[in-house]
Amino acid sequence: MSIHNSDIKRVTTHVLQEMKLRNEKISMLTGYDFSMAKIIDSAGIDIILVGDSASNVMAGHETTLPITLDQMIYHASSVIRAVERALVVVDLPFGAYQGNSKEALTSAIRIMKESGAHAVKLEGGSEILESINRILSAGIPVMGHLGLTPQSIYKFGTYVVRAKEEEEAEKLIADAKLLEEAGCFALVLEKIPAKLATRVAKEIKIPVIGIGAGNGVDGQVLVVHDMLGITHEFSPRFLRRYHNLYEEMKGAFENYIRDVKSQDFPNEKEQY
Ligand code: KIV
Repeated sequence: MSIHNSDIKRVTTHVLQEMKLRNEKISMLTGYDFSMAKIIDSAGIDIILVGDSASNVMAGHETTLPITLDQMIYHASSVIRAVERALVVVDLPFGAYQGNSKEALTSAIRIMKESGAHAVKLEGGSEILESINRILSAGIPVMGHLGLTPQSIYKFGTYVVRAKEEEEAEKLIADAKLLEEAGCFALVLEKIPAKLATRVAKEIKIPVIGIGAGNGVDGQVLVVHDMLGITHEFSPRFLRRYHNLYEEMKGAFENYIRDVKSQDFPNEKEQY
């Protein structure tokens, strides 16, 4: 039996809105390359996020800040070539939209045109509203992202839970409403108290996807390398690991090295 809704042949922003209305939870994972995206899509995921977390898990940077627009487009086009069912959302990278709505639109258009993606995601609320409005006016669907926004890590100073204090929580609620009114089709809430996330999901009509935001929201997202246990040293409380691929892959590589050294590989059947 299929675990996803096989009546949905292609996930669109409209489909996601209907899922929220009928209380069907939305599944989202990150994806950065063709082969992984093919597996994720065939499993029936609703949304693949080409996240700027590629900067960490694909390129080995400490933060998401160094990844460039060209690199995001490269990852996004690889994912798009693999996907048949999921909605593909691409992060606008740091420096491609903050403080300049014209540049924001140019960046979003480049992503849509050069990768074939279906939507973009931007981090922030009122501070980037002008950029969001400009992108939306070009007919490009926008997903918002509030709470812990990793592109602002040097402002926050740490990756701890956000919006625990009332003032920050009130600003987050106001920003969520602002993004909804502007016309964003969905919102990611990262690492905030579950109670606050539940309240936001109840008070706005667009789907709210959580990461470290509890189960009172409309869907969940995880970084694929984290949930597969490839990034075995990263263990935040919100992360559920579905595999320990770090150990499994390491074991496979060790076996291969052993076979090569001992000349067990290739054997007679594995040669011409
Ligand atoms: O870049 C990313 O992977 C993200 C998710 C954590 C939501 O923005």
